[in-house]
Amino acid sequence: MCGIIGYIGGKKSTDILVDGLRRLEYRGYDSCGVALIDPGQALYLKRVSGRVDALDKLIASDPIKKSAAGIGHTRWATHGVPSEDNAHPHTDCSGQVVVVHNGIIENYLELKEKLEKAGHRFKSETDTEAAVHLVEEKIKALNATGRSGDGDQLEPVFFEAVRRAAAELKGSFAMAVIWAKCPNMILAARQHSPLVIGLGNGENFVASDVSAFLKHTKRTVFMNDGELAVVKKDSVGYFTFQGKKAEHDPVTIQWDSTMAEKGGYKHFMLKEIHEQPGSVENTLRGRLLPLKGDVLQREINLPSELIKSVKGVQIIACGTAYHAGLVGRYVFENFGLQTSVDFASEFSDRARMVGADVLTIAVSQSGETADTIYAVREAKASGSKILAITNTLGSTLTREADFVLYTHCGPEIGVASTKAFIGQIAAMYVLAIHFAVMRGTIFDADARTYANELLKIPRLIEDALEGEKAIARVADRVSGSEHFLFIARHINFPIALEGALKIKEISYVHAEGYAAGEMKHGPIAIIYKNMPVLAVATTSSVLDLVAGNIEEAKARGAEVIAIVDEDSRKRIKASQYIVVPKTLEILSPLLTVVPLQLFAYFVALAKKCDIDKPRNLAKSVTVR
Ligand code: G6P
Repeated sequence: MCGIIGYIGGKKSTDILVDGLRRLEYRGYDSCGVALIDPGQALYLKRVSGRVDALDKLIASDPIKKSAAGIGHTRWATHGVPSEDNAHPHTDCSGQVVVVHNGIIENYLELKEKLEKAGHRFKSETDTEAAVHLVEEKIKALNATGRSGDGDQLEPVFFEAVRRAAAELKGSFAMAVIWAKCPNMILAARQHSPLVIGLGNGENFVASDVSAFLKHTKRTVFMNDGELAVVKKDSVGYFTFQGKKAEHDPVTIQWDSTMAEKGGYKHFMLKEIHEQPGSVENTLRGRLLPLKGDVLQREINLPSELIKSVKGVQIIACGTAYHAGLVGRYVFENFGLQTSVDFASEFSDRARMVGADVLTIAVSQSGETADTIYAVREAKASGSKILAITNTLGSTLTREADFVLYTHCGPEIGVASTKAFIGQIAAMYVLAIHFAVMRGTIFDADARTYANELLKIPRLIEDALEGEKAIARVADRVSGSEHFLFIARHINFPIALEGALKIKEISYVHAEGYAAGEMKHGPIAIIYKNMPVLAVATTSSVLDLVAGNIEEAKARGAEVIAIVDEDSRKRIKASQYIVVPKTLEILSPLLTVVPLQLFAYFVALAKKCDIDKPRNLAKSVTVR
């Protein structure tokens, strides 16, 4: 949930660290800090409670002259309130060993007790501080603190101390550690939290995510769990926590740094909503053979025996990705394959229900969501094969999974997921059609129709985006409401859930997504005069039923804003219409979600909320 960065090289380290932290702020943004070693081996430490902008100002008011190595952190609090004292980097008693950490050290209380008995003084409420004192203790044990000599002679001691400490820590951590006595290296350790190395020319980087250093280099190494990296200006060496050498081949990241910039839009969220035609295109690219009506196996490589033999599909995911999973269930079941969907955080008890005859599909934009990763491990332990649908190359999920289907949506920075969601749904269609073709549960002609219609979706999303100004007007008008209700049926029911989630995430108002038919079993009681009710009412097999539910809401005073297409509009009576293009019923979520994303965006804009960095949230939830 936090972002970490490290830099060693000839450039101005504070600039690189601050810029990297800005790009990592999506991982958490309640406090931040940097630590650098100056040439005189003194430590330069700056921390603030608040955003990276405040840190930048603090650094500008008291700049470091020159620096060799530095580390930085942007935090999403887990242990200890957001405050300067709890902000990273954390130092040991000597003030010379410094750590930044993402994750949760589960045995920190036990370690703290031991370390306090040994005389260490703790200054924060964080779990992280146990790690830095532990490294100090290991250095002491190696009898090195009092040793004279230059930094290079102490490097083996530093390495050994961090290695021993890392091996003793339990839980999840991505850490970067510096020691004032060894100004020419950064040590980085990974266990169950993301950590990547950026390889430059005469400079190297450590970060939670490639976006932190893409501006400088695209050559990347994805570290494995249980590994340490020794990062110097001109070299990086990899070792296991047992001290054995490890090998890595760098990969070149295709994303470029401008993809992670706002490109003229006011917020990343709005930019990403507008990127959705391209996201669907990228997810579908090369995977559909419209003339044959089949789907390519490229990249997925699911064995045909597995596809033909599975009795069902189990989808696990969190947040918006869970809603993509719910759409996936309708799609798979439309082609006759029984599908269950669970929140990854609630999957534990259901894991025993899957086995070798069930394919588990884990959906995650980041590929780092802790609950999803744990659920994957549980499904695996039950004998199920895992297919990951993710947007993030080299993420933990891709390494835990047996098969991976990348959505190729490019970096998503806005905390509220939009383009990644649409890519996840597109991936569901690709998979489901492929399964249906392979299992013989679809006629060739129908498969061709689905594939051809899917390929038209990017253009139709562009048309849907043209409604932006009208949506902004409606959203602005109702933005003062304290409550919003979203209703839909069948394959658009998950879109009602997603519409409500979007508005909750970025506007902090109460919103509920409900199955339209269930309204009369309770929720209709909450409707009051002029309450905004958004209803998805595009052409479908359930349109008449939805029309009836809209009438019921109106009869209780609701102001109904209906998402319709040109045909369904004639059959719905609402106060406001938002028109989306018509497509096949089964593909409609790819279009109906777009106005709801825009609606949430404009409500939040009217309320002057911090759209890209909503309070209390983080983009990547790497704790359980
Ligand atoms: C967080 C984000 C959501 C996201 C969810 C799952 O809660 O704020 O936008 O949907 O995590 O993330 P994942 O990376 O697994 O898709």
